[in-house]
Formats: sequence, C-alpha cells, structure tokens
Amino acid sequence: MKRLNTNMAMVALAAMVLSTFSGCSRSEAEAPAATSSGGISPQKFADAVHAVMMADRTVYAKQVVTRLKKQDAPVSPSEYWQDEDHTIPLPAQMFRMGAEIVNEDPTAGFTYSLTSQWPLNPQHQAKGVEVEGLKFLAENPGENFYSEEEIAGKKYFTALYADKAVAEACWTCHNEHANRGADYPEFKEGDVMGGVVVRLPID
Ligand code: HEC
Repeated sequence: MKRLNTNMAMVALAAMVLSTFSGCSRSEAEAPAATSSGGISPQKFADAVHAVMMADRTVYAKQVVTRLKKQDAPVSPSEYWQDEDHTIPLPAQMFRMGAEIVNEDPTAGFTYSLTSQWPLNPQHQAKGVEVEGLKFLAENPGENFYSEEEIAGKKYFTALYADKAVAEACWTCHNEHANRGADYPEFKEGDVMGGVVVRLPID
C-alpha cells in the first residue's frame, strides 16, 4: 500500500509538471507516466496511438504492397486507385483515409494527420505549431516533438513524429511527383519527409 501511495504521489507530481508545461518540446525520457486521475498523460496517449498507426502502416506496406509486388501480382498500388482497375491505395492514402474517419468521429477524442512543409497533397500543408515541430524533428534526429497550442479558443496537446525516407520508393516517388512545388527538396535516404501529427484537446 505504501508503495502505491508513493507511486500516486509521483504520478500527481508528474501531472503537475505536465500542466505547467507549455509551448516547448522535450524528449521522451522526461515524459510523465500518468495523470493524477489515474488516466494516461496526453503524451503517453499520443505515443500509444502513434505506435498503432505506424504498425498498421508498416504491415500494409510490407505484407500487402511489397508482397503483391514480389509476386508480380495483377494488382498494384496506385495514387489513382479510385479510377483505375486492379489497383489499391498507396500507404499514405490508406493513412489519410483512416485519419479522416477518426477526425470525423466525435467520440474518438483526438485527431491525427500527416504534415509536411512540401506536401504533395495540399491537405497536408504544415500549419501553426506543426511548422516549428517539423523543424525540430529535422534538427533533432530520434526525438519527437511535443507542444501545446490554442486553436479557436481551445487548448490542444500536439505531438509530432518524424516520417523518414526509409525506403528508396519514398524518395523516388516523391522527388518525381507531378505535384512537387518549385521549392521541393531532393529527398534522400534518412531525410525527414514530413511528420505524423497527433492532436488532442486538453483543458
Ligand atoms: C508511389 C508514390 C509514393 C511512395 C512510394 C511514397 N509516397 Fe508519400 N505520398 C505520396 C502521395 C501521392 C502522397 C499524398 C497522398 C494523399 O494524401 O493523397 C504522399 C504523402 C506523403 C506524406 C504527407 C505529405 C504530402 O506530401 O502530402 C508524407 C510525409 C509522405 N508521403 C512520406 C512518405 C514516406 C516516408 C514514404 C516511404 C516510406 C512514402 N511517402 C512513399 C506518394 C508516395
């Protein structure tokens, strides 16, 4: 019992630290584990849902897209899958369509999206704290970005996770894409191509 009380005190302290924290970023190591009410902190929540998103994305890319390609299957990923027969959505499109469903669901309690300074899809244009977050991710490899922001009078906890050029397909497709703007970078292996944003309201 004593141990539990100590833990609860630590949790309460961590929650206090979290509530005073505003508008800056820090590494995962400093993350509070839970709030005083016994729930998980916004940061833990964001990290957890991000882990699920990335797992789903990896499985789709490896076990569906790459597998079909290896088999020379008569089905292939295409950006224009809605207009073309025997095609399936690109991983980024799968990701966005899932995000759109969650973002329209008032019971979900959070929203998520892809973001970039140089988006192929203008819907992903970085805005507000995302701009600062992308800069931070590019300058601090291996770290995530956590911040708070106010949108339309409401306070949000916003987390950004780097989306890196991990496979050759990433940079070849993006670098050659028709939607690339005049200032589009020449992406190469390891570059931060954008970020995944997780945003949840806090009071
Ligand atoms: C075959 C082409 C293709 C490949 C391969 C590809 N992408 Fe994309 N990517 C796109 C398209 C098209 C979009 C816009 C999708 C949409 O929302 O309609 C996009 C969107 C994105 C975005 C959001 C910003 C934007 O440009 O709209 C990021 C970040 C991103 N991709 C990173 C990656 C990474 C990292 C990889 C490799 C793991 C990758 N992409 C592989 C075509 C590709």
